[in-house]
Amino acid sequence: MSETTLPAPQPAGSAGIVLQDVTKRFPGQDRSAVNDLSMEIAAGDMVMLVGPSGCGKTTTLKMINRLIEPTSGRILLGGNDVEAVNADELRRGIGYVIQAGGLFPHLTVAANIAVVPSMLGWDKARTGRRVDELLELVSLDPEQYRDRYPKELSGGQQQRVGVARALAADPPVLLMDEPFGAVDPITRERLQDEMLSLHANLRKTIVFVTHDFDEAIKLGDKIAVFAEGGHLVQYDSPAQILAAPANDFVRQFIGSDAGLKQLGLARVRDVPALPVVTGTPQEGPRELLARALAAGQDYAAVVDGDGRPVSWLSVAELEQLPSLPVQPAPDLPLVGPDDSLADALDAILVSVPGLALVTDAQGRLDGVIDAPLTLQTVRARRPAAAAGEPGRSPGQPPGAPAGSTEAGRQ
Ligand SMILES: Nc1ncnc2c1ncn2[C@@H]1O[C@H](COP(=O)(O)OP(=O)(O)OP(=O)(O)O)[C@@H](O)[C@H]1O
Ligand SMILES: [Mg+2]
Repeated sequence: MSETTLPAPQPAGSAGIVLQDVTKRFPGQDRSAVNDLSMEIAAGDMVMLVGPSGCGKTTTLKMINRLIEPTSGRILLGGNDVEAVNADELRRGIGYVIQAGGLFPHLTVAANIAVVPSMLGWDKARTGRRVDELLELVSLDPEQYRDRYPKELSGGQQQRVGVARALAADPPVLLMDEPFGAVDPITRERLQDEMLSLHANLRKTIVFVTHDFDEAIKLGDKIAVFAEGGHLVQYDSPAQILAAPANDFVRQFIGSDAGLKQLGLARVRDVPALPVVTGTPQEGPRELLARALAAGQDYAAVVDGDGRPVSWLSVAELEQLPSLPVQPAPDLPLVGPDDSLADALDAILVSVPGLALVTDAQGRLDGVIDAPLTLQTVRARRPAAAAGEPGRSPGQPPGAPAGSTEAGRQ
């Protein structure tokens, strides 16, 4: 995850979004595109909309920024009815990443990103700095890309420019319609990580459409699962949806590996690491061996002066070695606090002792974790076991569907 130099959140902060009994029926259609949709998106939350093609996800986004007017119902943004706000003003406060890019073909990449800053009257220098900063954020070299036209970019690059454009004026609300759909898996994962750190730092309210359930689990505070005809089938935290899908439709949507997907939800920092015997390269192997044996451990770690792991040795190796290694071993099974338990289990499974070394955010050794401990953590975090803990968004007004599960309405 690279560091970003985006400005601090605006004082206005983020705004919550409330949809009240919203229905959209397009002229000449016998079925509604969105059907009696009520949901509350708490300020600062990232909510993922998932569901099959044509179930009303894009229509829902476009009703929030008034590109489409609902047939009935109300939408509140920061407590204000969007109908009552000037549409241009409303949209300036809402970054919108259009499905499939939607860049202006006659404008350069830089000019596309600068559309809203220009409307806001930013000077050239400030706009130019912002454009370069955002291009870097989405991993496009400013030198190489700022003066190109959209047709000179790949589909995935166009999408990334679309993301940069939506972020340009640092709007408190972001609507993102499959922003990473055309991006390769590696870039996609990096952009997801950027999205996570951006969201952790700026706490914007984000409504994010995706076809990828794993992406929804990874990024979402909550997930809204839609079915055909614009019905909201389940709206809950990823943990709750995985543990208790509302019906077969949701179960099918999750796929067959709901249990394994739970490993992707919990982080290494959630696992209470076990103590590990450590020594420094300056001491003799026998001293470290004696401490390992006294502690009843088969392995001991060598750490550098800052406490960072250098090597991990079995008691048999400690018996043989003339001195402790100074050079860091290349293949240590290291995991950090933000790694998922899926990553941790992977490291555990490939390490010979069946343990992963846990470091803190500075890379200092904290302890070790094994497979039983990891699985126990996943089980203990399941909403059924820890009722009410995750998934309930705070501050829901009375009458709002708290983590509403509208099962059986399709
Ligand atoms: N302007 C329009 N006029 C008539 N029908 C429309 C219009 N826009 C969308 N629809 C219909 O409304 C329904 C919902 O469309 P929408 O674009 O919201 O789906 P979606 O969930 O975003 O699908 P996808 O995953 O394919 O992007 C579809 O059946 C679509 O055909
Ligand atoms: Mg769509």
